[in-house]
Amino acid sequence: MRIALDYEPGVTSALVARHGGRPEMLIQILHGVIEHFSFVPEAAIRQLAEELNLSRADVHGVVSYYDDFRTEAPGKHIVKICQAEACQAMGSRALTQHAKETLGIDLHETGGDITLDPVYCLGNCACSPAVMIDGRTYGRVSEEKFDELIGALNDTAAGNLD
Ligand code: FES
Repeated sequence: MRIALDYEPGVTSALVARHGGRPEMLIQILHGVIEHFSFVPEAAIRQLAEELNLSRADVHGVVSYYDDFRTEAPGKHIVKICQAEACQAMGSRALTQHAKETLGIDLHETGGDITLDPVYCLGNCACSPAVMIDGRTYGRVSEEKFDELIGALNDTAAGNLD
């Protein structure tokens, strides 16, 4: 479970310093921002542009190019469904459609505590279709299994672990 934190400029400054203030390290710095805050807030984009002597458009361009660099706080749970070839061959498109309908959200959206994202290969191709939930990978995920996994998240949120 990941929880977005309030933005702290000092964390971003420390990341910039750790990478020598080098603009070519922007992607690595952004990974650090995501690791700490779960998303890249607008304030971080402004700050990185200033501290790395880049334009905001430069930083925005990199952030918007990569799916991993979300600009809005995610839900407590991040559900990723593999969209790459092996998983598509084993039904990940239908599973994705099922997930969208079940959760009532589209890819890249957050509904309640859950953010639904695409991912392009989880290294679990032999057990397609693959899904990652809060950093844990599951293989051969049918619609029924998906519902069970989501149900378990909801049970956890409600404190019904027994
Ligand atoms: S293609 Fe889905 S895990 Fe590799």
